[in-house]
Amino acid sequence: MTLVGKQIVLIIAGGIAAYKSLDLIRRLRDQGAVVQPVLTRAGAQFVTPLSVAALSGQKVHEDLFSLTDDTGMGHIHLSRAADLLVVAPATADLMAKMAHGLADDLASALLLASDKPILLAPSMNLMMWNHPATQANLACLRSRGVAQVGPASGDLACGETGDGRMAEVADILAAIETHCGVSQVLAGVRALVTSGPTFEPIDPVRYIANRSSGKQGHAIAQALRQLGAAVTLISGPVGLADPPGMQVIKVETAAEMLAAAQAALPVEVAVCAAAVADWRVTEPAREKTKKREDGVAPTLSLCANPDILANLAAKGPLRPRLVVGFAAETEGLIANAKAKLARKGCDLIVANDVSPALGTFAGDDNRVHLIDGQGVEEWPSMSKIEVANRLARLIAQRLTSGA
Ligand code: CTP
Repeated sequence: MTLVGKQIVLIIAGGIAAYKSLDLIRRLRDQGAVVQPVLTRAGAQFVTPLSVAALSGQKVHEDLFSLTDDTGMGHIHLSRAADLLVVAPATADLMAKMAHGLADDLASALLLASDKPILLAPSMNLMMWNHPATQANLACLRSRGVAQVGPASGDLACGETGDGRMAEVADILAAIETHCGVSQVLAGVRALVTSGPTFEPIDPVRYIANRSSGKQGHAIAQALRQLGAAVTLISGPVGLADPPGMQVIKVETAAEMLAAAQAALPVEVAVCAAAVADWRVTEPAREKTKKREDGVAPTLSLCANPDILANLAAKGPLRPRLVVGFAAETEGLIANAKAKLARKGCDLIVANDVSPALGTFAGDDNRVHLIDGQGVEEWPSMSKIEVANRLARLIAQRLTSGA
């Protein structure tokens, strides 16, 4: 019962995923929340007011100008008592209205007239999702602090496959718990996360690097923080803002990352999401290396970098209770990841395919497999933020179960 006493206004817009919102209502009530449902005209084409009323145990609000809704000011009153406004499914149309401040029905007027946090669970056809108009509207809403869960990737009701499926109910529920600030299951837990690439200098102006964006590692740090952990994020050079509420240590090289990781100990959990360069130039030049007149290119002498994950996972008094590594592979994903689990001595490996064609490094989505001593668990393709949230919940489970 994580949501006892929480008031959730649930706006159900017109998408095929509206049926999942019925289950969401049930799950929210199981957790003790009071759900005030708002059904748009299009939403009522997919689920009936009767089902919504029966499951929520509340009057279903549908009309902006209803004379039976107190003084006809339902759009103002409804959000006043709310802890969170959830739009599930959030259609392209409703998100466009929100972005442009339209208020021609109860749902859009309510969203415009509210100063409460808003969580969207988008759901739509792949083309609509990818359309620049939808993406621009979403970027605008995000910049105003509107939160989002999903969409997931997979088979869509229209017969296509790709992004646009509404997030699973369990993920929406977890996001609601997070935004209501109730699931502080990691309060008192210290966590260390490495993220981004490392840069290994060749000379003062050149370096060896890789394509890691840091998006996955930063999202994990944020997800652990949202569950209440005290997080130290050790980041290589990335173009991302520092996530709020944690200590962020910026490093360039693998050696600096290792030193920062060791200095952050003791922690209960370490997640090594950084794409650490395996090699560095043995002796970087002090001055910029000049081109030779005969056109002969220099030969770089490389030596191995320390393995931060293996170092943290090594037995000893400072070993974190849970050490999680990543495996970035372009072939033999599972076999290579299993070998890495054994070689590095960590407890769990999150394996992802980083073949350039999939765009995982720079993209916002990830498809991962979780590998531990028990076996392999495949997760569907989802946003890096959802991977992070799920992983944070899994970490919380493992730490609290003592596994
Ligand atoms: N890792 C690390 N320090 C290194 C190399 C890797 O901490 N010097 C960690 C990464 O953060 C990741 C895991 O080890 O959690 C696996 O990284 P990956 O690049 O997939 O594997 P490598 O160990 O570099 O092996 P290979 O390049 O042969 O695949």
